[in-house]
Amino acid sequence: MSLYRLIYASRAIEQMKPDDLAQILASSQRNNQRVHVSGALLFSAREFLQCLEGGREAVNATYARILGDPRHEGAVILDLPRDCPSPVRRLGHAPGRP
Ligand SMILES: Cc1cc2nc3c(=O)[nH]c(=O)nc-3n(C[C@H](O)[C@H](O)[C@H](O)COP(=O)(O)O)c2cc1C
Repeated sequence: MSLYRLIYASRAIEQMKPDDLAQILASSQRNNQRVHVSGALLFSAREFLQCLEGGREAVNATYARILGDPRHEGAVILDLPRDCPSPVRRLGHAPGRP
């Protein structure tokens, strides 16, 4: 399987509370694992930076869902999506999964 990687930045609509971040983390872990997408999410002040890695359709579907989330705005893709020549994940993933 070739890997697809997408990096974007966005800004929280309002100050995030620990509970808000915990909710995002729980959804991400549950949904991303199901579709074999690995993710790294950084949050500082009101800025998000996220990298998503996995199959092309799964990454695009995940990003499309995230884009519609009213908790943030102004999403900008920082790294153009592309298939990586070497199918080696840079982000962690559950063992035994593709
Ligand atoms: C900055 C940000 C990053 C997010 N990252 C993910 C993600 O990687 N995977 C995911 O499924 N949802 C992510 N979400 C949450 C989704 O927008 C959405 O709320 C969630 O996928 C809905 O799924 P649920 O009904 O199973 O909770 C993110 C939300 C925000 C604001």
